[in-house]
Amino acid sequence: MAKYAAAVDQGTTSTRFMIFDHSGKVVAVDQKEHEQIYPKPGWVEHNPMEVWERTQEVIEGALKKASIDPKDIAAIGITNQRETTVVWEKATGKPVYNAIVWQDTRTDTICNELAKDGGQDRFRTKVGLPLATYFSGPKIAWILANVPGVREKAEKGEVLFGNMDTWVIWNLTGGPKGGVHVTDVSNASRTMLMNLETLEWDEEILKIMGVPRAMLPKIMPSSAVYGHAANTGVAGVPVAGDLGDQQAALFGQTCYSVGEAKNTYGTGCFMLLNTGTRAVQSKNGLLTTLGYKIGDQPAVYALEGSIAITGALVQWLRDNLKMIEKSSDIEALAKTVDDAGGIYFVPAFSGLFAPYWKSDARGVIVGMTRYVTRGHIARAALEATAYQTREVLDAMNKDSGVELTALKVDGGMVFNELLMQFQADILGVPVIRPTVAETTALGAAYAAGLAVGFWAQVEDLRANWGKDREWKPQMNADTREAIYKGWKKAVTRTFDWIE
Ligand code: G3P
Repeated sequence: MAKYAAAVDQGTTSTRFMIFDHSGKVVAVDQKEHEQIYPKPGWVEHNPMEVWERTQEVIEGALKKASIDPKDIAAIGITNQRETTVVWEKATGKPVYNAIVWQDTRTDTICNELAKDGGQDRFRTKVGLPLATYFSGPKIAWILANVPGVREKAEKGEVLFGNMDTWVIWNLTGGPKGGVHVTDVSNASRTMLMNLETLEWDEEILKIMGVPRAMLPKIMPSSAVYGHAANTGVAGVPVAGDLGDQQAALFGQTCYSVGEAKNTYGTGCFMLLNTGTRAVQSKNGLLTTLGYKIGDQPAVYALEGSIAITGALVQWLRDNLKMIEKSSDIEALAKTVDDAGGIYFVPAFSGLFAPYWKSDARGVIVGMTRYVTRGHIARAALEATAYQTREVLDAMNKDSGVELTALKVDGGMVFNELLMQFQADILGVPVIRPTVAETTALGAAYAAGLAVGFWAQVEDLRANWGKDREWKPQMNADTREAIYKGWKKAVTRTFDWIE
């Protein structure tokens, strides 16, 4: 009897391999960062080969650290930074171009061109998404238009497209020697190319965007056996789960009922609300997305509020301004002051995502005086995460018609006490952290474990969820609304920056 389920979490800044026991407890973990490549302002790339190397290393690393016999692993799930686009040669496994990362804004012109006929919401009814640089379809179109010879090969199926889930699964299951070319509904729903109702690639949109069907992976459930690992220390183990990282966190937070929501604090912040087997169209700037699909069961949909830059702002203060040595130092620096000293920092580095969807916005710090210190900037950076989350929660309340009474949180930033208290204050509802904050990897391991019977049903997973810490709002309502009003004004200063 296998003792564990495992997951590869291929994120924006790093890749992790995590092994969990039947109670959802972490047994082993290894993690490695990969390079962030910024060729021009607004462009962000990753080297797919480096990502695959890091993936192999962390698999080996975690197995070794905890001396785990791969035979004890029932199945592996994959979870990933979504939308990031890789195109590679089927015969060699060589990428034709670097991966274009979800934060990259180079497809602005393509999106604007497409929006000329029908506006930004041209495809929204079909795919649940506005036309924005965030999604994969326009990124594929950019590669096909800009990398010589790729279009012809794509039409013949000689080059393949994948998001990071597809890239990792293809490589893990054998690469050029028989790797399976698949994705799941949650990842496919972020391409702008999958029809929300049929859960198939939409022929009309493929034609309009000029994306050949032959280069696209097969869309599968999120929990199903896709193949077996053919290499690394886990060779032979079934690869049986695939979820975009935010959907994986929803799954790991056991938000299986309509109305349950979570917010994950990573590079960006992503709040997802389970809307059941119904795709709810947003009227307030949220995305309609696939939550998950377990085997033959009906697909579960979600509303999502995506924020591009939250933890990434802390990394930027660390790497570009050298203001702190490590990300966790931000809290101590922010605590050197009592408030943000009258400033707001709106990190529209990749434009603004939900609820604005403005690719031409750019970041600002407003309210600067000589009074302002590094501490105020650190504090304003943390507060930006909380304000952006408030905007998304307000939109969610409006779209669903139900007021959320508490927010389940996870991800790296939820260990920042100052941020979590301010989050509860600015939302006016309690913020709750579970015992396993690594819910993204856990969700993917759950999906994989369910597919092979390691766990029998989702209800069994609920029992693994436990509360670790809760922050209750302490700020009075007048202060809350006054400082939030200042934030809304600051946001307007980012608009229309790029001509
Ligand atoms: O949509 C982008 C998202 O999936 C990235 O997540 O955790 O890598 O910042 P993360």
